Amino acid sequence: MNKSPDAQRMEKIVSLCKRRGFIFQSSEIYGGLSGCWDYGPLGVELKRNLKNYWWHVIVHERDDVVGMDGSILMNRAVWKASGHEDTFTDPMVDCRSCKARLRTDQVIEKKGGRQCPNCGGKDLTEPRPFNLMFKTYVGATEDESSLTYLRPETAQAIFVQFKNILEVSRKKLPFGIAQIGKAFRNEINPRNFTFRSREFEQMELEYFCRAGEGMRLLDYWLWERLKFYENIGVSRDKLHARKVPDEERAFYSKGTYDIEYDFPFGRQELEGVAYRTDYDLSQHQNASGKSLEYFDEETKQRFVPHVVEPSAGVDRTVLALICEAYSEDEAPDEKGKMETRLVLRFHPRMAPIKCGVFPLLKNNAQLVAKAKEIVDLLRPQMNVFYDEGGAIGRRYRRQDEIGTPFGVTVDFETLGEKDATLRDTVTLRDRDSMKQERVAIKDLAGIITSRIR
Ligand code: GAP
Repeated sequence: MNKSPDAQRMEKIVSLCKRRGFIFQSSEIYGGLSGCWDYGPLGVELKRNLKNYWWHVIVHERDDVVGMDGSILMNRAVWKASGHEDTFTDPMVDCRSCKARLRTDQVIEKKGGRQCPNCGGKDLTEPRPFNLMFKTYVGATEDESSLTYLRPETAQAIFVQFKNILEVSRKKLPFGIAQIGKAFRNEINPRNFTFRSREFEQMELEYFCRAGEGMRLLDYWLWERLKFYENIGVSRDKLHARKVPDEERAFYSKGTYDIEYDFPFGRQELEGVAYRTDYDLSQHQNASGKSLEYFDEETKQRFVPHVVEPSAGVDRTVLALICEAYSEDEAPDEKGKMETRLVLRFHPRMAPIKCGVFPLLKNNAQLVAKAKEIVDLLRPQMNVFYDEGGAIGRRYRRQDEIGTPFGVTVDFETLGEKDATLRDTVTLRDRDSMKQERVAIKDLAGIITSRIR
């Protein structure tokens, strides 16, 4: 069967990710571990650029948000109070024919009967709840008293530290607490590359407010978050804000939006923006017996704050960035013949490497020395890559393929051999237009940094 263009595109993306060192299967030499992934040298840079930019926009650029970094393991009581121990489940079905374990929503409904999507078998068990939290034991004994879970979301650490952070930061409502960190879910069917993983990272903001402000702030944060995705290079027409209908929403939420992206495998959730009311803080206050109230000095009232939560997935956003950036166009090869060029058109802000530096010839000591000087000049301000191997066209292509937005070439003009007025100038190549401009070495850092930010 012929694969659809979208399926082919996804295959090419997965293969590029491995070939160029963005993402590898975890424990690959042992056959992998389903739902777990390792980020290679370029993947880790992309991921860091994303997390740093989120932190910059959400924490550093605002007066009303502070950060924290909570532990992954927490007292089991947290997960009891939050409701995760009893209700963080997906309904699961087993196929008795092929032994596949399926999420109930993956089962095919045909003429009133249920069918396994794997083997077509009809002998399926009734749906039963499956808790998605990974269990673990703290300390030397492995019994109920030492049981806890790897956190399935980072948010709960924020709720249980609410009072401490309120006291030390001396913030007034509305204010937020932000966190980036790992989360773990024993997904029944991890799939679509990194999209549904068992270990992943979240970027979560809990924005605390008065009850009357919740619905307005829900809309405010939806628009702020849509703007964020545009600022990292995700095109607006591939982003969608879906209002989650009443029957799908958590019972305590008064309003939720899913921000969705058109991946090659379909429109899927990138981030949830939810108005969670005072549910979480009230649950922890009741279960712990410790007050999590806020004292409003203006009205002299004490109350449990409400919260609006934009919760984004790092790995899903990285995948969206790669899918968005992946493109093929036509460009001339060394001999002027047109060939297919593979380009990752990352926003310069997100690109793992900002600038490639190339001496025209590797066996010319002066060209090499000048190129290395330029590397030293740029390195304090950006991630640069020096490459002297192969024809210059091939070196450009290698950088295009990993999304490096700028390329600097040191040639004989740079040495002033042909025209003294061109001494200490280089060509600066733009990845997308492939146009080259001649710029003075002393202006390079300023020009490139102004185009990255
Ligand atoms: N604190 C709220 C919360 O965790 P969620 O909708 O379950 O809400 C938030 O998760 C985000 O975390 C999702 O929008 C998604 O980006 C990311 N996420 C959730 N499960 C994931 C998984 N199995 N693999 C990768 N990312 C996941």
